[in-house]
Amino acid sequence: MLRSPLTVVRTLRHLLGVAEENRCRLVELQHAVDELRRATERDDDRLTVLRRLLAKVEPYQPIYGLAGLVPEPARASVDRARTIESDMGEVRGKRILDIGSSLGYMSFYFADRGAHVTGWEANPDNNEVARQVATVTGIPVTFETKELTLDTVRSIEPGAFDSAFVLAVFHHIIHFQGLEAAQQIVAEMLDRVPVIYLELAARGEDPSLFWDASQPEDPLELLALVKDRSELTRLGTFSTHLSEHRRPLYRLARPQIVRVGSHEYAYDSVSREAYRNSPVSEGPWQRRYYHSTSHVIKEYRFAEEAADNWQQIIGELYVHTLLSSSRHHVHHALVIDDVHLDHQHALVAMRRVDGRLLSEGRPLHPEALRVVVRDVLLTLRDLAALGIHHNDVRSWNIVVASDGGGWLIDYGRASHVAIEDDVVALAWAAVAGMSGAREPADEAMTNLPPQEALEDAGLGAFGRAVHAGLRDRDALLATLDG
Ligand SMILES: C[S@@+](CC[C@H](N)C(=O)[O-])C[C@H]1O[C@@H](n2cnc3c(N)ncnc32)[C@H](O)[C@@H]1O
Repeated sequence: MLRSPLTVVRTLRHLLGVAEENRCRLVELQHAVDELRRATERDDDRLTVLRRLLAKVEPYQPIYGLAGLVPEPARASVDRARTIESDMGEVRGKRILDIGSSLGYMSFYFADRGAHVTGWEANPDNNEVARQVATVTGIPVTFETKELTLDTVRSIEPGAFDSAFVLAVFHHIIHFQGLEAAQQIVAEMLDRVPVIYLELAARGEDPSLFWDASQPEDPLELLALVKDRSELTRLGTFSTHLSEHRRPLYRLARPQIVRVGSHEYAYDSVSREAYRNSPVSEGPWQRRYYHSTSHVIKEYRFAEEAADNWQQIIGELYVHTLLSSSRHHVHHALVIDDVHLDHQHALVAMRRVDGRLLSEGRPLHPEALRVVVRDVLLTLRDLAALGIHHNDVRSWNIVVASDGGGWLIDYGRASHVAIEDDVVALAWAAVAGMSGAREPADEAMTNLPPQEALEDAGLGAFGRAVHAGLRDRDALLATLDG
């Protein structure tokens, strides 16, 4: 059949269109293939890099999560990891420092179970491997190239870690830094980290090893400086690649530890009173205060005879939640790091402000008192902007920090309702801070202290304004200038 030229042109156009479309699809397909090839190469690259890095290090541990990469690791390590894990209890949320982290096996094992782990390793080649393992497995651990010495142990912030692992490392430290330095390192570490897992090598494991002769007769001599202030528990013994000798693994812990949430807080003292001579109930304890270098931990018991505890803890947590969820800054607001709440009791870990209570110690000079009053007024002003009244401004609820600043603590009675006048209460607390005599605890805070007392405290202008009925926080702050 003869087609008209017009039909032929149309058909040709159509065929050209189809060809063009297919060409585009072909190009797309080509792009997809290229992308796939690049991705595969990238993955291969990461493993190739890891293999290359591994060739430079001692194959001490297996590579966590990548079976077979180290065909014959010196230590299988999973046995030690499981032993520590079952001793530790809940791993999720724990903050762990793995010292001598080698290829990162222990670090990854615990990070994979929800811990926040930092590894310190003296050998940068080991760290390169460990970091590459993190890249391949996606398990987040921070590895620092850092040697454990007296200086570096002192850089650990108290309260920053729940436990440290120092597995098969101290024999190196004893050899290179001496037994005395190693003993001091243990003591300094225990001041900062409440629980230390230790695996100790012993003299005579293999006398031909370079570190053997420098080891003490008894490996536990390492703990000479802490033996009276720690608890040592042997968790098991483990074989090594070096000899028939099995190495003991210990938990070395501060004897006084309180757990809040998933964190361990080692404390130095515990009291049933919030401040010296505070009214303490008879009978079973209702409140306890654990004091550590970094935190004050309040424990409140919930019981029929301690009904106030519920209200106070809920009030306190409500205010702190409000503060942390609000964009509004509150001057000198305390920081809560951990909370535990169940039907029987509550524990609240608050970061410690170094200093002393206004109600304790020497009376303050007028200039120092003015700084404290100013800080507390700023806090009250910021709280008021959130609609919060403190309702318990007392000299025993104000910390005079070591830098002279004033911190209002204890938000247990804070509320959107003004139960009392915070400014009147502050005037009484200021007079107490100047005279050294505590204000009455049950004062309804309706009547102000006499103006002469405020004059004596160097707060004349503030007192006159307050007596005249001024309550605007900013205007009152202005009376403290100059
Ligand atoms: C025998 S391996 C033990 C590795 C790992 N802790 C374990 O038990 O599986 C000792 C590791 O500690 C590291 N190391 C030795 N002295 C150290 C020090 N002073 N500070 C940090 N790491 C150290 C070594 O580089 C090595 O990786």
